Amino acid sequence: MNVVWTRDLSVGIQEIDRQHQDLFHHINGFLDSLQPAPPGDSVAERFDLLEKYVNEHFSAEEGYMNGQLAGYYPDREARRHRGEHETFIRDYREYLTEIMASGLTVQRADEFRSWMRNWWFMHVSGTDRRLGSALRARYPFIK
Ligand SMILES: [Fe+2]
Ligand SMILES: [Fe+2]
Repeated sequence: MNVVWTRDLSVGIQEIDRQHQDLFHHINGFLDSLQPAPPGDSVAERFDLLEKYVNEHFSAEEGYMNGQLAGYYPDREARRHRGEHETFIRDYREYLTEIMASGLTVQRADEFRSWMRNWWFMHVSGTDRRLGSALRARYPFIK
């Protein structure tokens, strides 16, 4: 297991928690499939597929921020949140570009895994949980 979902990562909204659990499942399958490889595009398809899942999730969260949370989720927090998503995609693609150019070593794969683990843990436990709190404040009966 590379990225583990625990109750500590719950944002208090079932739909988002379920998305995180599904996404972590995809992430772990992807990380487990990474094997040392020579330069080339052998990993590109898998990177692209995971990026598609990640973007679907980011779009769902960003959809919540658009408008209906006014007064509960400050604009600067929404901007920061979107910015973290953008930075993730940028850095993720940088990893892919570099791996395609130089190949994937055991050490690089480990570094990439710990970057993923840390990013998802930090983002969900901080930024996403604050979005969850705003949603609960705005919609007290939301599950
Ligand atoms: Fe997020
Ligand atoms: Fe999230």
